[in-house]
Amino acid sequence: MHDHHNFHEELTPGYDPKVFKRLLTYARPYSGMLFLSLLLILIVTSIQLAQPYILKIAIDDYILGPGTPRGLQRLGIYFLFIYALGMVLNYLQFIILMQTGQRIIHNIRMELFSHLQKLPIQFFDKNPVGRVVTKVTNDAETLNEMYTSFLVNFIKDLFMLTGIVIIMLRLHTTLALISFSIIPLVIAAITIYRKKARQAFRELRKQLSRINSFFAENIAGIRVIQVFNQERQRLNLFNEINDSHFLAGLKELKLFAVFRPIMDLFRSLALALLLWYGSGSVLTGVIPFGVLYAFITYLDQFFRPLNDMSDKYSILQAAMASAERIFDLMDEKQEYSNIQAKPLTTIQGSIDFDNVWFSYHNEDWVLKNVNFHIAPGEKIAVVGPTGAGKSSLINLINRFYNTTKGEIKIDGQDINKIILQDLRKQIGVIHQDVFLFSGTVKENITLNSIPLTDWELEKIAKSANAYEFIDRLPQKFDTPLGERGILLSSGQRQLLAFARMLAFNPSIFILDEATAHIDSYTEHLLQETLDHAAKGRTSIIIAHRLSTIKQADRIFLIREGRLKEISSFEELTSNLYSYFHE
Ligand SMILES: Nc1ncnc2c1ncn2[C@@H]1O[C@H](COP(=O)(O)OP(=O)(O)OP(=O)(O)O)[C@@H](O)[C@H]1O
Ligand SMILES: [Mg+2]
Repeated sequence: MHDHHNFHEELTPGYDPKVFKRLLTYARPYSGMLFLSLLLILIVTSIQLAQPYILKIAIDDYILGPGTPRGLQRLGIYFLFIYALGMVLNYLQFIILMQTGQRIIHNIRMELFSHLQKLPIQFFDKNPVGRVVTKVTNDAETLNEMYTSFLVNFIKDLFMLTGIVIIMLRLHTTLALISFSIIPLVIAAITIYRKKARQAFRELRKQLSRINSFFAENIAGIRVIQVFNQERQRLNLFNEINDSHFLAGLKELKLFAVFRPIMDLFRSLALALLLWYGSGSVLTGVIPFGVLYAFITYLDQFFRPLNDMSDKYSILQAAMASAERIFDLMDEKQEYSNIQAKPLTTIQGSIDFDNVWFSYHNEDWVLKNVNFHIAPGEKIAVVGPTGAGKSSLINLINRFYNTTKGEIKIDGQDINKIILQDLRKQIGVIHQDVFLFSGTVKENITLNSIPLTDWELEKIAKSANAYEFIDRLPQKFDTPLGERGILLSSGQRQLLAFARMLAFNPSIFILDEATAHIDSYTEHLLQETLDHAAKGRTSIIIAHRLSTIKQADRIFLIREGRLKEISSFEELTSNLYSYFHE
């Protein structure tokens, strides 16, 4: 059992200015909106700050002072008006901010998907699907919080805090200084909390990532689990991981649970100090009662953002961690693009391998000094034992991987010097396991990019021998496949893949035959389809069935990464055993 979580996920930073700066670049196109939102929230905050002040005037100047009842009524109307205005503006700023956040995340998701599609196959070899999906969904959503709950609100809190400090100092300096005497305690508490919370959070993220990869892997492998009755064992494994996650979560919760009451304690402390000093002065008439009242309210307002600090801090932590993971993904190198790459239009279809050596990750050689020339229109069968390097060989031709040494040429041109899209346009590959997207039969053949009339579609399906089974499907070409649609048999998938290939009409046709056994009728269908598909195209067929090999112009035998040409089918069959086991 190995975990798939990678190194980066354990390195959860607290706050990284570089990551933060990069996050801001995504907000830049919306700086107008964000600024507007900030402006609105500052007005709302000012209104909130004004409310206790208005009440103070009401108490000191009217209720306890010389003011008239009429004046007090007017003040009441002001109060109501300001309150209503604050509500409307608050609503507006909320809508603007949330929409902006969603737009930013929308752009980030687009960029992620666009980037992801162009990553080399090696990336997907190394990164399990579950983790990549988590990045595009969860992490992007966490970032949203960063823009909505944090960015603007942080400035608002700062504004609120400084606003309160200034108002309190102006209202009554001594009383203000007494109230602020607890600030050093508050700062100390926040500092300690930050440090502890960072550790707890880091541990929690690590455990969460273990849970995610465990789920992804075990759902993918559900068939094996059920075939071998492994449900209980897997559950036990999961129980361990889940327990660790639970404990890590508990640790974080405990910190949360301590922080708030401590802040409450500090607030009460400040309040007690205020009352102790203030009430005496109020009674002796030194401080007006309204001022004391305003102070008490301001103190409450002062502690509100501080109380939320623990939540805000975990938002920041989570967002930073997510940002780092997302940027890691965005920084993954794409398929290198050769600046001098030339376009490739129509081709004859010759293929050359010149002293080609290949290994996947600088490990053992998978292909060793492979040389051959295939003339346009030739039909080649590739045979060899499992793991010999057959699939690897064809994955070099359309540059899923790059050769380690040596050169591959199409029509005499080095494939590294051809624009990648142009190269791939000329080569149609059908892999060992055919992949179908969720979508209709038609969509799976045209991939929504080849415009075909119904008549053309039917013709292609007939050439691929796929028409017969498609015609029997409930909605024919419009039958949904994959995900929640109909699941096809492996033979049917193969035939559909042929149809897809024919629709794209490449000059070079490569087939990695499925090793699965098929019935003789389907075999006959496939053979016919194959002949049709190879017609007029250079074709390389990794063959597992003798009938396929028989049709080939030449036979390449690959064994332990070395290629040897066999003169004829008869030579192969008469020496079959010695060819494969030596
Ligand atoms: N993506 C990969 N990363 C690393 N090594 C790989 C990868 N794919 C294949 N290999 C290794 O390369 C070698 C050749 O594998 P390849 O898939 O080319 O064999 P094959 O001839 O197609 O076998 P089969 O007939 O079973 O399909 C094997 O030893 C395999 O372990
Ligand atoms: Mg293979």
